[in-house]
Amino acid sequence: MNVTVHSRARHFRTVTFDAQHNAVRLIEQRLLPHTFQLVSALNFQETARAIQDMVVRGAGAIGATAAYGLAQGARAFRGRDLAKFLGHVERVCDTLKAARPTAVDPFNAIKFVRQAMRAGQTVEEQQALALAAAEEFADEDVRHCEDIGRHGAKLIRNGMNILTHCNAGWLAFVDVGSATAPIYAAQAQGRKFHVYCDETRPRSQGATLTAWELAQQKISHQVIADNAAGHLMQRGKIDLVIVGSDRTLGRTGEVANKIGTYTKAVLARRHGIPFYVAIPLSTIDWNLKSGFDIPIEERHESEVLGAWGVVANPKSATRKPRSARPLYVRVANPTSGALNPGFDVTPAELITGIITPMGILKPRQLWAKRRELGLTTQALP
Ligand code: MRU
Repeated sequence: MNVTVHSRARHFRTVTFDAQHNAVRLIEQRLLPHTFQLVSALNFQETARAIQDMVVRGAGAIGATAAYGLAQGARAFRGRDLAKFLGHVERVCDTLKAARPTAVDPFNAIKFVRQAMRAGQTVEEQQALALAAAEEFADEDVRHCEDIGRHGAKLIRNGMNILTHCNAGWLAFVDVGSATAPIYAAQAQGRKFHVYCDETRPRSQGATLTAWELAQQKISHQVIADNAAGHLMQRGKIDLVIVGSDRTLGRTGEVANKIGTYTKAVLARRHGIPFYVAIPLSTIDWNLKSGFDIPIEERHESEVLGAWGVVANPKSATRKPRSARPLYVRVANPTSGALNPGFDVTPAELITGIITPMGILKPRQLWAKRRELGLTTQALP
C-alpha cells in the first residue's frame, strides 16, 4: 500500500527480498505508528528472530518472511554436496518453524518452497528454485488479498459501522491485508463507512497498526478499548465485524485469531451482528481435526504487565509526541505476575462466513470445497 512519509507517498510491501545482499527487507512494525523504518535481516537466523520478536508479524507476512528466510538460508550454502545441502536446509526450516507456533502460514510457506526445490538436481538449481518459489508465495499472498477484497466489499454498505480486531491489514500480509481488503475495496468503490479498531491489548496492534493503516488510507475510524465493543453493539453502533485469522481449520471451520476474537464473536451472536473472517488459502490448516489441537502461543508476561508507547501529553494526545523512541512503562502492581495467551479459537457456529479468495463460504463448507481451495493429497500428512 502507499505510505506517506514526510509528505511523499510511496508504495511498500511489508516484506521483500534483496537478492544482491541475500537479505530479507522488513518494515520494523514495533516502531509504528511513530516511526516508519525498513530493516534488513542478513541471515536466516536474523530472519527467524525478526519473526519471533515481532519486527514482522501477522499470519501472511510471517508466512512470506519464512519463505524468503528459507530461500536466504539455502542461498547462503557454499558447496556442491547435495546431501550436506539438504541437511543444512533442514536446519534452516527447523529454525524458521520454531519462531512462532500458532499461525500456520509459515509452515505452509516452508512446505511450498521445499516442494518447489525438489525439482532441482543440483545445489545451485535448488537455490534458484527456492527464491523463485518464495517470490511466488509472496505474490500469491497479494493476489489472494485482492480477491478477498473483491468478494468482501459486497458486505459493506454506505453508513455502516465496522468492527475489526488486532491487525489483519496490509502490515499483516505482503500487501492489501485480509480483514482490511474489503474495507479498502469498498472505499475504492466510493462507499462511506466508519471503522472501530479494537485496541487489542496486550500488544495493541489495533491501536498502533490498524489505526495507522486506516489513517494513511484516509478511512474514517476510531480506536476503542477492547472492553467497549459489547456496549457499542448493544446500542446498535456496530453493523458488521470482520477479522483475520492465524489458522483456520479446513475440517471444522474453527478460527484461531488474536486473543479477544472469540469474545467478540460471542457478543456479535448475542446481538445478531454478522461476524466474518477473511483468509488467504495459506491460512488454512487441512490437517488438524479440532481447535483444541491448535498450539496457542504464550507470550512474555511483561506484555500484559506494562505497555510500550511514546511520551505524550495526555491532555493533547493528538499532538506530535516529543520523542518517537518507544518506552516501556509498568502498569500492573509490581509484585504481580501475568498469564499471556496470544490467541484464541472461535467455533464455526459463531462465524457468519469466511471470506476466501474464491468467495464467501460458510465455515463448514471449507472441507466440502477443499479441492477448489487448493488441497492436494501432498498437503495431507
Ligand atoms: O501476534 P500477531 O500480531 O502476529 O497476530 C496476528 C494478527 O495480527 C491477528 O491475529 C490477525 O487478526 C490475523 S493475522 C492476519
